[in-house]
Amino acid sequence: MHATLNRRDFLQTTAAAGLAGAMAASAWAQEKPKSEPAPLRLGVVGTGSRGTYLLTLALQAGVEIPALCDIKQPHLDRAIELAAKARDGRKPAGYSQGPKDYQRMLQRDDLDAIIIGTGMQEHAAIAIDAMRAGKHVLSEVSGAMTLDECWGLVRAEKETGKCYMLSENCSYWPDLMMVRRMVQQGVFGETTYAECGYVHDCRTLEFEPDGTLTWRGEMVRDWAGNCYPTHSLGPVAQWLGINRGDRMVSLVSMATGSAAHADYVKRNFPKDNPVQQVKFKGADSVSTLIKTARGKVIDLRYDIASTRPAFGPYHALQGVKASYDTRLGKKIWIEGSSKPNEWEPIENYAEKYEDPLWTQLREQAKGAGHGGGDFFVIRQFLEAIRAGGPTPIGAVDSAAWSSILPLSHKSIVEGSTVQEIPDFSEGKWEAAKA
Ligand SMILES: NC(=O)c1ccc[n+]([C@@H]2O[C@H](COP(=O)([O-])OP(=O)(O)OC[C@H]3O[C@@H](n4cnc5c(N)ncnc54)[C@H](O)[C@@H]3O)[C@@H](O)[C@H]2O)c1
Repeated sequence: MHATLNRRDFLQTTAAAGLAGAMAASAWAQEKPKSEPAPLRLGVVGTGSRGTYLLTLALQAGVEIPALCDIKQPHLDRAIELAAKARDGRKPAGYSQGPKDYQRMLQRDDLDAIIIGTGMQEHAAIAIDAMRAGKHVLSEVSGAMTLDECWGLVRAEKETGKCYMLSENCSYWPDLMMVRRMVQQGVFGETTYAECGYVHDCRTLEFEPDGTLTWRGEMVRDWAGNCYPTHSLGPVAQWLGINRGDRMVSLVSMATGSAAHADYVKRNFPKDNPVQQVKFKGADSVSTLIKTARGKVIDLRYDIASTRPAFGPYHALQGVKASYDTRLGKKIWIEGSSKPNEWEPIENYAEKYEDPLWTQLREQAKGAGHGGGDFFVIRQFLEAIRAGGPTPIGAVDSAAWSSILPLSHKSIVEGSTVQEIPDFSEGKWEAAKA
């Protein structure tokens, strides 16, 4: 699938294939010792809050930043300054001439990869264009918003051999990684049911101070389904071996009304503000039940409007021999090992089941965003490029996890009909190993 570069090819390519000649003229390659591979060269499309943070982590990881792109000049200027400061004043080129200007940036031959940090509506189109222009891609979540886009990602990755990775940082949370290892080593026995959700009041992020909708607000206006599935579903899909021995086959979704959104708009904007006329399709709370080919059930919730203290994603797993639930404070119960009727901290099992990534890199990950998850996302992406792929969360996973967005929407607008989930692995899920 990733036919382009293995590690040896990468070294040969950078050393010999004309790239060295091209780079000699470039400031980006100048002071690297000859024995080391040239640093990877990344661009960022969408230098808002998330793109800028990932840029910071990428700079810390030693990449070069030849170019940056954002339609908002202040965001672009801020990111250019940040990159220049980290690289002895060398300023990346800036692209800000409209929503398609990233395509001009993709024509550069001094970019190996791009990070996509735009609003969600743009992710898939930019990722597909980038892979087809010969660039590796790290895309913010969700990966896509329509089934066509999901398939577009899968095909672009397959046909170009480029590395595509979904920036799903919750997959790197230490307790969730530990549960994955425990599942793989049989601690849970057969797994049967998982419960997960993203419950986080994000209404302040949906509106500009003047009432204009941000990209998040536009999503709530236009989509009735679960618009943010991957933080909750991603780790659970990895526990259950989705696309690696099992796959999601169907779903059904139900939604509440939009009372919390309506209440927020009423309280926060004047009566004559046009936002008062906006009809939001987005519910306050969406529940989705997903069935897998092996008969497991995933209960997935999404609620970015209901008033409550900050919370975020939660994850729970039921197996024949054990149960885990983050809402209880990351507690596990293992039959025959835990005390009867008494949950215990999963930390009790860290010595045996902690993921080696955490054992080796805990100090470096400390302080990075989203519980250290962002550190691992950047690191795994860069390592995958150097190794010639694949990435740990490629286009097939991104498509499967992201497909919940359009399918839950369709289910809801059709009155909670059952929707088939396409097999983005194209039959490979059965033989693939977790
Ligand atoms: N993984 C996580 O934990 C996490 C956390 C927050 C946000 N996100 C994701 O990150 C993405 C960005 O979120 P954010 O909060 O940074 O949003 P933001 O609004 O702060 O940033 C988006 C940026 O993209 C720019 N942009 C939009 N269209 C563009 C285009 N066509 N070309 C170039 N630039 C364009 C905007 O001008 C803006 O600067 C979203 O998809 C969101 O889902 C992920």
